[in-house]
Amino acid sequence: MGRRLRGILFALPGALLAAAGALALPPPQAGPVRPPAIPLETGEQIWKAGCVACHGADGGGQPQNVAGFEPPATFPDFADCATSTVESDLQWRAIITNGGPARGFSRIMPAFRDLLTPRQIDLVIAHMRTMCRETAWPRGDLNLPRPMITEKAFPESETVVSGAINAQGDAGVGSTVIYERRIGAKAMWEAFVPYAFARTGGIWRAAFGDLGLGYKRALFHRTETGTIVSAGAELVAPTGSRAAGTGGASTVFEGYGAYGQILPASSFVQLHGGIELPAHPDKVPRAFYLRAAIGRTFAGGGGLGRRWTPMIEIVGDRELERGAVMECDVVPQLQIPLNRRMHILGSIALKVPAVQAAGRARQAMFYLLWDWMDGGLAAGW
Ligand code: HEC
Repeated sequence: MGRRLRGILFALPGALLAAAGALALPPPQAGPVRPPAIPLETGEQIWKAGCVACHGADGGGQPQNVAGFEPPATFPDFADCATSTVESDLQWRAIITNGGPARGFSRIMPAFRDLLTPRQIDLVIAHMRTMCRETAWPRGDLNLPRPMITEKAFPESETVVSGAINAQGDAGVGSTVIYERRIGAKAMWEAFVPYAFARTGGIWRAAFGDLGLGYKRALFHRTETGTIVSAGAELVAPTGSRAAGTGGASTVFEGYGAYGQILPASSFVQLHGGIELPAHPDKVPRAFYLRAAIGRTFAGGGGLGRRWTPMIEIVGDRELERGAVMECDVVPQLQIPLNRRMHILGSIALKVPAVQAAGRARQAMFYLLWDWMDGGLAAGW
C-alpha cells in the first residue's frame, strides 16, 4: 500500500480532521506519527478515510455543520444519477488528482496527487460509480466531442451557437441556436432556430430559417466497450423565408440513427445517417444523408489537463430522385475548451465540397458550446 493516511490528515482542512477524530485517528499534532489505523486497499476504505468527511458515506454530502464549509452551488451528489453519470472518469480523476481549482472548481476540494496513488484514485472512482444505483444512464465517458455536422449519440444538456460563413461565391452568413435538454436516463429533446444573412442578386437579406424540434434516445450503451447507439427524430416547420432562401417551403420530418465508438489511443469514430421526408416532396425533395466523424483527443498534464480534439468529417447527401447523385463534403476541424472547467468549448472548421462540388461554396464554420449542467457562463475560467 503506497501512501499513508497520515499524509491525508496532514493535508486536509478542519472538516476532515474532525471526521478523522471521529474515526479515533490521531490528529497530526499528536506527536510521533503512527501508521494508519485503517487500511487503504479498497475504494470504500479510501472513500471512508479521505472523502466521507465532506462528501458523506453515500456521496450526498455531509450536513454543513459536520463538513464545516458552505457547499458551492455545484457541490456534487454522487448518488444522484442525473448529475453524476454525465461526468467521465477522466474528469473525476483530474479533479481528485489535481484538486478543484485545476478544473475551475472550489479550492475546498483538495488535491490528492501526493496522498493517493493513481491506482488508489481509480479504486475510489470505481467506488463512487456504485453510488448511482441505476444502470440505465449512459456514462459521461461515452460523451464524445461534438463534431460540426454529425449528430452525436450521447443525450445532452447544452446550448450551442453554430455558424457558417461563405468563403467563396455569394456572400452569406448563417447561424443556428440549438438548445438541448436531457429527459430522464436516456433521452433528450432539442429546439433549434437558424438565422441567416444572404446576398442574392446584389441585395442583402436577413431572415429566420426553418424552426426545428427534435427528440433523441439512447438505445444501447456500454462503457466497457466504449459504445453508444441512439435514434432520433426531428420535425422542421416551414418558418423560414423563401424569398431570402432560408427555407419555408415544406414541413420536413427527419429520422436518424447515431453511433459513437471509442477507439484505442483516445481516438473515436461517430456515424450518423438519416432520411428527410418533406410533407410536400414536390417543393422539397426527399433525401438521405450519411455522416462520419473521426478524431483524436490530446491532453496536457499527463492526460489530465486541457483537451483539444482535431477531427475530420465526411458528410454526404443525396436526394431520393431518379438520377440524383451523392454530394459530398470534407470538413477538417478543431475543438478546444475555452475555460478551465471545459464546459465552454469552441470549434472551428472548413467545409470543402469534394464530390459533385459545383454550386456549393467553401465555408468557414464554427460553434460555441455551453454545457450548462456544469455551471454558468461566468464559472470555471
Ligand atoms: C475538505 C472537503 C473535501 C474532501 C475531503 C473531499 N472533497 Fe471532493 N469536493 C469537495 C467540494 C467542496 C467539491 C465541490 C467543488 C465545486 O463544485 O466547486 C468537491 C468536488 C469533488 C468532485 C467533482 C464532482 C463533480 O462531478 O463535479 C469529485 C470527483 C470529488 N470531489 C471527489 C472526491 C474524492 C474521491 C475525495 C476523497 C479522496 C474527495 N472528493 C474529498 C470537498 C471535498
